[in-house]
Amino acid sequence: MGKVILSGKGRRWLMKGHPWAYRDDVAESSGTQGELVPVEDPNGHPMGWGLYSTASRIAVRLVTSDSTQPNRAFWSERMRRAVERRRQLGMLDEAGCCRLLSGDADGFPGMVVDRYAKTLVLQSGCQGSDRMRDFIVELLLEALPFEPDAIVDRSDASVRKLEKLDPIVETLRGSVEGPVLARDGDLLFEVDVFQGHKTGHYLDQSLNRRAAARRAEGGRVLDAFSYDGLFGLHAALAGAEQVVCLEQNKGACERILANAERNGLLDRIKVERVDCMKDMRARAEREERYELVVVDPPAFARSKKEVAGAERGYVELNRRAFDLVPAGGAIVSASCSYNVSPADFVKFIGRAANLAGRDVWLEELTKAAPDHPHLVTLPESDYLKCAFLRVG
Ligand SMILES: C[S@@+](CC[C@H](N)C(=O)[O-])C[C@H]1O[C@@H](n2cnc3c(N)ncnc32)[C@H](O)[C@@H]1O
Repeated sequence: MGKVILSGKGRRWLMKGHPWAYRDDVAESSGTQGELVPVEDPNGHPMGWGLYSTASRIAVRLVTSDSTQPNRAFWSERMRRAVERRRQLGMLDEAGCCRLLSGDADGFPGMVVDRYAKTLVLQSGCQGSDRMRDFIVELLLEALPFEPDAIVDRSDASVRKLEKLDPIVETLRGSVEGPVLARDGDLLFEVDVFQGHKTGHYLDQSLNRRAAARRAEGGRVLDAFSYDGLFGLHAALAGAEQVVCLEQNKGACERILANAERNGLLDRIKVERVDCMKDMRARAEREERYELVVVDPPAFARSKKEVAGAERGYVELNRRAFDLVPAGGAIVSASCSYNVSPADFVKFIGRAANLAGRDVWLEELTKAAPDHPHLVTLPESDYLKCAFLRVG
C-alpha cells in the first residue's frame, strides 16, 4: 500500500481543514493511480486517508481525517447522506433533476453525478474517482429511492488532462435514445447528455432562474449566453411578453426552440445564434430596451493569472447590459469564475455602472443551488455568483 507523508507546511494546511494536499506540501509519497492511502504528518502521526494521484499538482485528496481506513460501511453512509440531503431539499422527485453528488464537497473526491429524471450522468475528474467509479455506481443504486433507467459516464472534461486521464464517454447501464427529458419546476426540457456542456446542462442556476423569472412578468427579456435557454424559458413561463435568447452554440440554440415548443412558448421566444459581446453593443446602438437582461457568460478567469483579463471582460459585458435596460429595469449578472471573489465581482459591476453613468442597486447576491453544496473548508466549492441588480 502507498502512503503520503506531509511536510510541516502540508500538515499546517490540512490542519486548517482544506482537504487537498499539494505536491509541494508532501515530503514523501508512494502509491498507484487513485489509490486510497494513509496520510501522515512529518512525525509519523496519522492525519487520515486520501485518494492519491500520480500526476496532478494535488497529490492527495483527503477523504477522512480519522485514522481508521474507510471501509464499505463508511462509503455507504457517505452516499446515503448525500442522497438524503437532496431529499431534504425536495429535489428527488422522479421527473425532476438535481446534482446528486458534488465531488469533494460531498466527500467523493472528483466525482460529480447529475440526475435528469431517471438518467444519471457521471463525471469523474481525478484518478481516485476513476478508480472508484463502479463502486460509486453500486453505492448510488443502493441509496437512491428509485431505479435509474440509464447511467452514462461523461468523463470528458479538460481537467482530466491534469491527471493524465483519457476522456471516457460510455453508457454504463440501460440505453439513451435521443434527448433525455426532465422537469425543472413547471418546465419540461431536453438534455443532450452526450454532446451538451458539462453533464448536458447547467443545474447550478436552477434557483437563480426562478428568482430571475419573478422580475420578468409583462416585460421584454434578453437572455444572453443562454445555453439551452432555461433563464429565458422560465421568464416566458412567468409571463414575460417577449424573450430573446442569445447563444453561439448550434445544438443549444436548437434545444431552446425545441424546449419552447414543448412548453407552448414558441410565440414568445426568439433565438439568435450570435456572439453576445458584439450583438449586445449593436442592440444598444439600435436603442433596444429590455426590462430584464440576464448575462451568464462562461468563466472568464480559469486561473489566477487570468483575473486581470476577466475584470475587463466583466466590466465591459455588464456595461453593455446597463445600456440595454430602461430606468427601473433589472439585470441578473452571473460569474462562474472561482478565481473572482464575490466582493471583486460586485466591484467590477460597480465599475461598469459608473462607466455607464447609471445608479445600480444590488438586491441580492446568490450562489449555486444547494444541491451544489459549498463545503466551507473547501473554497473551491463556492464558485458561482449571481447578482440581482436594479437599475436607476
Ligand atoms: C455559463 S453558460 C450559460 C448557462 C445558461 N445561462 C443556463 O442557464 O444554462 C455560457 C454559455 O455561453 C455560450 N457562449 C460563450 N461565449 C459566447 C459568446 N461570445 N456569444 C454567445 N454565446 C457564448 C456558451 O456556449 C455557453 O452556452
